[in-house]
Amino acid sequence: IRLAVLASGRGSNLQSILDAIAARALDAELVGVFSDKPDAPALQRVPEPLRWARKARAYPERAAFDAELADAVSAVRPDWVVCAGYMRILGDAFVQRFRGRLLNIHPSLLPRHKGLHTHARALQAGDGEHGASVHFVIPELDAGAVIAQAPLPVLAGDSAESLAARVLQVEHPLLLAVLQMAAAGRIAEQAGQATLDGQPL
Ligand code: GRF
Repeated sequence: IRLAVLASGRGSNLQSILDAIAARALDAELVGVFSDKPDAPALQRVPEPLRWARKARAYPERAAFDAELADAVSAVRPDWVVCAGYMRILGDAFVQRFRGRLLNIHPSLLPRHKGLHTHARALQAGDGEHGASVHFVIPELDAGAVIAQAPLPVLAGDSAESLAARVLQVEHPLLLAVLQMAAAGRIAEQAGQATLDGQPL
């Protein structure tokens, strides 16, 4: 499959994808890395021709940035588009253009803790478990059908940082597992539901 990745920061999920492709553990071709931050370290993980970045704040409003991003993503003809540490909300027009093949990895056990600062919020809530979710992207933030989750225990003495580090470790294999299913044509979004081999997940 042709894979496009949206990233705003470090890009450890992107690196995990690149390593899996190189090891022939993921049957995919990375066709582009797109960012709202031209200085995002994620961009440095791929050759220059695969990079696209624009300063979002240079645009009059979100729709203008999203429209240019959508055209750039569309131009590389991706089969799947993955938000991996992409820190901007994607507007409805962008989502509709890629809906059904647009994924996000979120560092919580959705539907708990949509949005930001998920680790601190899990601690504040006294959650006994936390983790990561891969879901289809829909216009409502972090509300799309969940495809897979990786739970882990919250440990006594955990800080937001220690929790984030353990969550990141389960994110990488979780996202790869979902992408392998996608590459095999096994997952789809049907009537707002995630399906595996046609069966609701
Ligand atoms: C990850 O925790 C991801 O779940 C969240 O942002 C972080 C980005 O990680 N969306 P990276 O940029 O892939 O290292």
